[in-house]
This record gives sequence, structure tokens and C-alpha cells, in this order.
Amino acid sequence: MARLKLPVPPVPPALKPRPARPGTGNGRVGPLDQAAEAGITVVDWIDERTSLSGGLRWMLFRKVPKGTNWFYTLGSAAMFAFLSQAVTGVFLAMYYDPSPTHAYESIRYVTNEAFLGEFVRGMHKWGSTVMVILVFLHMGRTFFWGAYKYPRELNWVIGVVLLIMTMTMSFTGYLLPFDQRSYWATIVGVNINGTGPLIGPYLSDFLRAGPEFGATTLSRFYAIHMMLVPGLIAALIGAHLYLVAKLGTTAPPWIKAKPDERLTESEV
Ligand code: HEM
Repeated sequence: MARLKLPVPPVPPALKPRPARPGTGNGRVGPLDQAAEAGITVVDWIDERTSLSGGLRWMLFRKVPKGTNWFYTLGSAAMFAFLSQAVTGVFLAMYYDPSPTHAYESIRYVTNEAFLGEFVRGMHKWGSTVMVILVFLHMGRTFFWGAYKYPRELNWVIGVVLLIMTMTMSFTGYLLPFDQRSYWATIVGVNINGTGPLIGPYLSDFLRAGPEFGATTLSRFYAIHMMLVPGLIAALIGAHLYLVAKLGTTAPPWIKAKPDERLTESEV
């Protein structure tokens, strides 16, 4: 069957340069006109050199199935929770010291003394729970809509990896305040990992950076938490969204497809 290729949507009117009004001079542009058009000029300048706008329109101006509702916003909500974690995390990293002797004190400083520190730390701490809840709700939405079926299986698999990565973030972040609770909770968590089949013992050795919880365990958790996993999550979200734009979203299961009249006529 020949594949129907949708044309790239047209440039939205807001992005088109405004036509000159009658009587505004023969091509003469004043500073106010220039200021009003500045945004468009910059976008045009970049687009002329990169041709990125076609891709952006392909991504953003998509047709969505009939029946699309608020449940379809859960994926984007999870993505914004991730972005908020990334931004607040950068500010926390400006003060955090991942050494066993200074970690607790640096977190105490952020909470009690740094400007807006308690607020930013609170956003990051509560935001982590919000992100986990949103990812689970989004997974539930795609499951109950049957969105994991052909041709979206790969996107489901990428989603499963994103879920594991999100939980890895929670697990590695929990140790960082380095108080009694986070220390003992991490020992329990690493031991649970060690009971996994085949790779379990290797995984727990890798997490601890050796057979015992030692001085390098904290910096290992910190590196995983702020570099390795966020990088992976960002790349996987990119792949996830590419597939969403390419395949389109699934219609709700209660929406019945309208039979193609031309087909019915030729069959009769
Ligand atoms: C960081 C985590 C995640 C982010 C940021 C994310 C983001 C998104 C976004 C923005 C969409 C577009 C439409 C929608 O929201 O439904 C989407 C679709 C989808 N996601 Fe996720 N997602 C994540 C995790 C997951 C997980 C854990 C699964 C399942 C295991 C999953 C499976 C899917 C599937 C199958 C679709 C296609 C939905 C459809 O065709 O209707 N995603 N995702």
C-alpha cells in the first residue's frame, strides 16, 4: 500500500513578516518597525542558515486524533517535571560537596543559609516524587489506551528504560544528603540490588564502588545522579518524542474509526 505523506504544515501567520501598510513609506523602515520585527528577523536569520523551521513545524504542528483529552498531557507533564529537576539540580550542584565529610554540611548550608536554598531544595525533593508519579500515570494512560501496540512497541520499550532511569535518579539522589536515613536506606537498596539474578552481585559492587560501602560510594552515586542518568534520560526523551511525532498518538479506544466510503463503494 502506498504510504500517504502529509505535507509539512504551512508557516503560522504569527511567524510571517507583516505586509507593509499602505502609506508607510516606500520600503522605509523605522526603528519601531525594526523592533517589532526583531524576533522574526532573528528566527529568519537562523532558519536561512539551518532550515530548522521545517523540522520544528513537523514536530509541533501535528494532527491529533479525535477524542484527544487531558490524559494526553501526562507525558509532557513528566517532561516538564524532568526539566524542573534539571534546572533546580544545577543550582543545588553549585553548593553540594560529594565528600563523606562535607556532604551533610553542604546540604545544611543550602537549607538554612543559602539565598532561596530551602525553596530550591524543596522543589527538587518534592519534584522527584512528582516526576515518578507523573511517569507512572503516563505509563498507565499509554497502557489503558493500548498505545504500546504496533507500530509503537519501540516507544513503549524506550518508555520502560525511561521509567528505570527515573527510579535510578530517585535511588541515587536519596543518598546525597548523607544523613543516617539516607545512608542506611541506601545500604538496604544496594543489598536488594545484589539479590537480583545473574547481574545482581555485579550491580551492587558497581554501585558501592567495591565490596563495601566506602569513601568513593558517595561520589559514584553523585556522578550517576547528575551526569550519567540525566544525559541518558535527555537523549531517550528525544528519541521518545521523535517517535511520537513520526507515528502520531493513538486515538482513545472508545473512538471507532469511520469506514472509508470510497473503499465500501468499490467493495459493493
Ligand atoms: C521521563 C519519562 C517520560 C516522558 C518525559 C515521556 C513523554 C512522552 C510524551 C510527551 C508523549 C506524547 C503523548 C502523551 O503524553 O501521551 C509520550 C507518548 C508515549 N509514551 Fe512516554 N514518556 C515517558 C515515559 C514513558 C513510559 C514509562 C512509558 C511506558 C512504559 C511510555 C510510553 C509511551 C508511549 C507508548 C507513547 C505513545 C502514546 C500514543 O501513541 O498515544 N512513556 N511520552
